[in-house]
Amino acid sequence: MSHAEDHTGDQSGTRRDFLYYATAGAGAIATGAAVWPLVNQMNPSADVQALASIRVDVSAVEPGTQLTVKWLGKPVFIRRRTEDEIAGARAVDISELPDKNAQNRNNMDLDASDQNRTMDEAGEWLVMIGVCTHLGCVPIGDGAGDFGGWFCPCHGSHYDQAGRIRKGPAPENLWVPVSAFEDETTIKLG
Ligand code: FES
Repeated sequence: MSHAEDHTGDQSGTRRDFLYYATAGAGAIATGAAVWPLVNQMNPSADVQALASIRVDVSAVEPGTQLTVKWLGKPVFIRRRTEDEIAGARAVDISELPDKNAQNRNNMDLDASDQNRTMDEAGEWLVMIGVCTHLGCVPIGDGAGDFGGWFCPCHGSHYDQAGRIRKGPAPENLWVPVSAFEDETTIKLG
């Protein structure tokens, strides 16, 4: 087992933007270290779940910002939305959406209403696999594109503030992964 710890941040420091508890082998871990101080920790008791789930501390994520972590080799966007973003996403009529499925891996029977894609009832937390459903590029966030959400520059796919495809060649909404709040500030992926 070739676990490796990547201490690119100082765990004891005061500026600890997030703790990234990785049970995966080192190869599955991306260091967003250029932006985020990052501490990876092995969890020997969770070998069985290795590669399947990680926990992300989101206590430092402010409204209007997004944290990107890597999970199972893919970027995962964890966005804490503002009131305006939530209102904008909820004002959209489902009939306007090219993909009417929530694409929420927690429940694939849900329609694409904003409420069916967010982690919490208030709609503040939106967690998505950051992979364009067209051919797999990583979309740009922070209000990009014609619908104030994400934009994939590869072939011009526009996603709205709930990560739903609105224009361009991508066939599906950005996927919401299996995810849940484990406590107030910890999101478990997988
Ligand atoms: S891969 Fe995103 S638009 Fe083609």
